[in-house]
Amino acid sequence: MSPYEAVGGEAGVRSILDMLYARLFEDPLVGFLFEGRDRARIVEAQVAFTCAFLGGPQRYAGKALPEAHAALPLLAGHFDRRHRLLEIILEERGVPEEARREWLRVDDTLRSSVLAAGEAARQRSRRA
Ligand code: HEM
Repeated sequence: MSPYEAVGGEAGVRSILDMLYARLFEDPLVGFLFEGRDRARIVEAQVAFTCAFLGGPQRYAGKALPEAHAALPLLAGHFDRRHRLLEIILEERGVPEEARREWLRVDDTLRSSVLAAGEAARQRSRRA
């Protein structure tokens, strides 16, 4: 069984991301980064991306990750917080261990792409 099947296909992925972003938006550490943003849009933009790396047939046609986060002053700790909440939710949802490990493994490899533009964004917000 692929990790994609083990998490319940596209519906399972969407429901896990929904739960993750509901928590991120309310989170005391990173919630401020999402202020005024469209939660449903952020979730939807990640459904195909996530399904594809878990072994589903979807193909992601959205923005590259550095570009998607270019306006945000992201730090490594913000990334860690999202990663940890994802880990907690995958456990809570009872996702089988192998699928959970694969999702978290790939998520971690995306760190440098997500954070690539963070330094430039921080410098801009310091100057503003
Ligand atoms: C592996 C980790 C991550 C992935 C795969 C990911 C993926 C994405 C994608 C695909 C988008 C949508 C881009 C679009 O508008 O088309 C997005 C937007 C966004 N992400 Fe992430 N992201 C990750 C980590 C993070 C982290 C750590 C934060 C902050 C704690 C974050 C905050 C945001 C915000 C605020 C937006 C909306 C930007 C806007 O409206 O312009 N992301 N993300």
